[in-house]
Amino acid sequence: MARPKILITRRWPEAVERRLAQRYEATFNPTDLPMDARALGEALKTHDALCPTVSDGIDSEVLAHAKGGPARIIGNYGVGVNHIDLKAAADLGLVVTNTPGVLTDATAELAMLLVLMAARRAGEGERELRSGGWTGWRPTHNVGMQVTGATLGLIGFGRIAQAMARMAHHGFGMRILYNSRRRVSEAIEVETGATFHPEIDTLLAEADFVSLHCPGGAETFHLIDERRLRLMKPTAYLINTARGPVVDEAALAQALKLGAIAGAGLDVYEAEPRVTPELMTLENVVLLPHLGSATGQSRTAMGMKVADNLDAFFDGRQPQDRVI
Ligand code: DGY
Repeated sequence: MARPKILITRRWPEAVERRLAQRYEATFNPTDLPMDARALGEALKTHDALCPTVSDGIDSEVLAHAKGGPARIIGNYGVGVNHIDLKAAADLGLVVTNTPGVLTDATAELAMLLVLMAARRAGEGERELRSGGWTGWRPTHNVGMQVTGATLGLIGFGRIAQAMARMAHHGFGMRILYNSRRRVSEAIEVETGATFHPEIDTLLAEADFVSLHCPGGAETFHLIDERRLRLMKPTAYLINTARGPVVDEAALAQALKLGAIAGAGLDVYEAEPRVTPELMTLENVVLLPHLGSATGQSRTAMGMKVADNLDAFFDGRQPQDRVI
């Protein structure tokens, strides 16, 4: 029987590429450069499966190329699927899978890192030292805010937010508030030390750190806008490891510039890899290049999960991480 043809849009960890090449007729992307919409569309005409990442825009125009072709499944490398038009994929009868669970701790760690870096002005300090500008210890130098005992407000309370709550509560004695569409069980609230807050606006007004963990997409577009930034304390910090468009980046740059909030830590952006130029000029924001899941363990496990999902699908079984 012919081996299913699959296309991997970016370089994946070596062990995963090796595994995929054993079972599939796999097309890899040795240049690791992003594929444009035309190339993605062409791939859908000639492959049984497309395996994209968050850096690929799989919109309805790209998906239209799958009509009448061999493509049957999109095995996404990553948990967020807002870069895929799920409605258009469903209309074409395509299955879409993702990779939940295996990047939870890595992403929660990174959110915690941003809390610490932003509060303790770590980026500023390092920039000063590397530029040769450090003149030595003094009581008023690079003074930040203590994280231990502060209040962390989580917007969205899925796996990653819960892992962050555990780290923050048990590791740093933080008080945890969360807002989500549904309240979690009492057992999870007790274990994570988190208290449900039904209103985003009041959570914003109470938290010293606000960390975003909701999915991207139309429903959460600019959830944090100018009005909501004004509700935050002037001493508070905004952390985003979710999706860039959840925050109005221009409004955030203004709020940081005017001191409406104390600082921010960002790992995701509205139009990646572009970053609002004004943010680049500000000292009170930590800017990381979408590193949430970037640990060797997570990145390999994500790829292995895509492979598990493809294997199940092509064996006629239900893929474990089916989104649609
Ligand atoms: C995810 O899994 O959604 C991460 O942001 C990487 O894609």
